[in-house]
Amino acid sequence: MPPILELKELNKRFGGITAVKDFNLQVEKGQIIGLIGPNGAGKTTLFNLITGFLKPDSGTIMFKGKNITKLKPHKIANMGLVRTFQLVKPFKRMLAIENVAVGCYSDRSKKKRKDRDDVPQKAFDALQRVGINPPNTFKLAMTLSHGYSRRLDIARALVLEPDVLLLDEPFGGLGAKESNLMTPLIQKLHREDNLTLIIIEHKMRQLMKIAEKLVVMQFGEKIAEGTCREVTEDPKVCEAYLGKGGHDYFARNK
Ligand SMILES: Nc1ncnc2c1ncn2[C@@H]1O[C@H](COP(=O)(O)OP(=O)(O)OP(=O)(O)O)[C@@H](O)[C@H]1O
Ligand SMILES: [Mg+2]
Repeated sequence: MPPILELKELNKRFGGITAVKDFNLQVEKGQIIGLIGPNGAGKTTLFNLITGFLKPDSGTIMFKGKNITKLKPHKIANMGLVRTFQLVKPFKRMLAIENVAVGCYSDRSKKKRKDRDDVPQKAFDALQRVGINPPNTFKLAMTLSHGYSRRLDIARALVLEPDVLLLDEPFGGLGAKESNLMTPLIQKLHREDNLTLIIIEHKMRQLMKIAEKLVVMQFGEKIAEGTCREVTEDPKVCEAYLGKGGHDYFARNK
C-alpha cells in the first residue's frame, strides 16, 4: 500500500531562519506518529505546510496519491486532511454545539450526510465522542474550561470525518486529570475510525502511551525516527533537548 501521506524534501525559510529543512516522511494509513523536538524546532511550521496554511519554498506533499502542495487549506481539509491548533481558537461567543455545527457546512461534511436536518445531531454526536455532554454542549465556548476547549477543537475536526488528523499539542496546558482523559480519548478515536494521526507533543509521558513511532525534529531537520524506545535511547535526541550530558532526559521523564 502506498503511504497515505508523503512529504518529500520539504523546505521552508523565514528570512534567515530555516524552519523546515529537507524534510522527508512517509505516513502509513492507521499509523500514530508522535512529532517531537525542542521549542522552535519547526513542528508547527511542518503542520502549517502539510495543511496549506503555509507554502513550502520547495518540496512536495502527497496525500492519498494526489499532489496537494499548492492547494488552499479548505481544499486540503475537504480531502480529509484535518488539523487542530497549538492555541485553541473557538468561536467564543457561539455555543459549543454551534462551533462544531459550522464544520458540518464544509463540502466534505455536506457530501457525507443526506440533508441539513441532521446537522445538530451530527454536531451533538461529535461532542459526545470527545466527552462533551449536556449541559456543556449548550454552553458558550468562552465559558468552557481549557480542557473542554481542547476537546471542542478535536470535535470540530471530527465532523469533517478526517482520514488523517494532525493534533498540535493536544495536551498543551492540561492538568494531570485532564491529560488522563485525553489519552484514552485519542486512543478511542484511532481505534474506532482507523484514523491516521500525527501528534505534536512535549508531554512525553502521555505521547509514549499513544504513539507507535516518534519523529524528532531539531532546527527544522529530522534527526531521528523510530519506535519510542529507539528514539528515546538515541543520544542525539537527548542532546537535542538538553545539550551534551542530557543522555538520561527521557528516562527521568517517563
Ligand atoms: N510566520 C513566521 N514568521 C517568521 N518566523 C516564524 C514563523 N513561524 C515560525 N517561525 C519561526 O520558525 C521556527 C520554527 O517555529 P515553529 O513554531 O514551527 O516551532 P515548534 O517546533 O512548533 O515550536 P514549539 O514547540 O515552541 O511550538 C522558529 O524559529 C519560529 O520563530
Ligand atoms: Mg509549535
